[in-house]
Amino acid sequence: MTQHESKHMQAGVVGWPIGHSLSPRLHGYWLREHGIDGDYQAYAVKPENLKDFIRSLPAQGICGVNLTVPHKELVFPFLNYIDDLARKIGAVNFVRVEDDKLYGGNTDGYGFLTNLQENAPTWRPTAGPVAIIGAGGAARAAVVSLLESGVPEVRLYNRTKSRAEKLGQIYAEYYDPARLTVGDWVDLSSGLSDITLLVNTTTLGMKGQPPLEIDLSRLPNTAVVYDIVYNPLETDLLRAARERGNVIVDGLGMLLYQAAPAFEAWFGQKVKVDPAVRHYVLKGL
Ligand code: ATR
Repeated sequence: MTQHESKHMQAGVVGWPIGHSLSPRLHGYWLREHGIDGDYQAYAVKPENLKDFIRSLPAQGICGVNLTVPHKELVFPFLNYIDDLARKIGAVNFVRVEDDKLYGGNTDGYGFLTNLQENAPTWRPTAGPVAIIGAGGAARAAVVSLLESGVPEVRLYNRTKSRAEKLGQIYAEYYDPARLTVGDWVDLSSGLSDITLLVNTTTLGMKGQPPLEIDLSRLPNTAVVYDIVYNPLETDLLRAARERGNVIVDGLGMLLYQAAPAFEAWFGQKVKVDPAVRHYVLKGL
């Protein structure tokens, strides 16, 4: 019997408010599928209590947690080790406890890229420029994973241009500044003519939010259109792109693929992202 199988394992997701997180449903599915004596629950923790909660993980016998809004950035000072990718992305989305020490990492970039590769297998990072809409935490995971995978130029478009410029300054430390450019929000549609991939990282198009309205007429029909929103699965942006013949990628796979390496780190079990788990998680929406 391995160490991982020897005792009840507790993990969870920490946020404020924690609301309708799909993560307990997802991890619960994998725990049952593999017959692991473990549990994954949602922890509602106010920002002012985050330090005490995170520091008490070893004493509580919790083997790890995911972090969600607003804790992904706030958790940095409370950890013993943070990996390079999480530092570059500026966010920690999971913590692992080992020998009473707290390790922070980020699997959002991995989830973003793996979902893209699975659903648009002929897209090549080196083929040309990419456009990203947004400049929040999700945009940073996309920017880092795309630049790391060899995209020649990422063009950022954000309603508040100064936030996109701030990202440009941050990443000038890591990448050739010519590879991360900032466009004007009003020029978004006209700037799409040489784009191989268009990504929405904003909340626009999510249930209860206004749609993201972009004129796609200049976008090559060979370009991939990727929306990280997963509720609804097909946003207005994706429907418009599909109807004009573009390959589309929805955001559910990103949620599933970011979860898999964290599950493996905590519970010592590899998991598959397959249609069955996708279908099960979708029913929880
Ligand atoms: P996250 O960390 O999940 O990416 P965030 O930091 O709140 O979330 O970022 C949300 C993104 O959606 C931002 O890029 C935001 O643009 P601003 O920086 O201008 O706020 C974008 N966004 C939200 N509502 C928007 C709207 N109505 N029009 C255009 N962009 C919007």
